[in-house]
Amino acid sequence: MVAGTVSGGDGEVSGAAAMTAMWVDPRFRRQGVGDVLAERLLEWARVEGCQRMVVWVTEVNAGARRLYERNGFTSTGASQDVRPGELEHEMSRSLR
Ligand SMILES: CC(C)(COP(=O)(O)OP(=O)(O)OC[C@H]1O[C@@H](n2cnc3c(N)ncnc32)[C@H](O)[C@@H]1OP(=O)(O)O)[C@@H](O)C(=O)NCCC(=O)NCCS
Repeated sequence: MVAGTVSGGDGEVSGAAAMTAMWVDPRFRRQGVGDVLAERLLEWARVEGCQRMVVWVTEVNAGARRLYERNGFTSTGASQDVRPGELEHEMSRSLR
């Protein structure tokens, strides 16, 4: 059984990693799994030598935004359409 997943890859900017596909099975939510996944991915990116981590979050996803804020991410001010009429916002944090 998989409680949750997260993926990491190259960010668009040199030295930055991207966090994507954060997902926790509804049966395991609100138990700290999201925090564990975020912490492990941040550690992976540090070992890879990255200096920043970025993540995009849709404007309607307040729970995910709180998860990222709790893990040190702040809004960069960058936004883009994720689908017609809905924006997603970029967040990032230093890995130093
Ligand atoms: C967003 C998502 C990944 C969060 O996963 P999660 O495992 O529930 O995350 P956490 O448990 O670390 O934190 C979620 C909440 O549970 C609370 N919590 C954490 N541990 C807890 C515990 N032991 N007991 C009670 N509540 C707890 C946190 O304080 C947090 O509360 P808040 O949302 O009111 O701030 C999950 O809801 C999800 O998969 N959503 C659908 C996919 C998605 O939106 N992904 C993000 C794309 S950008």
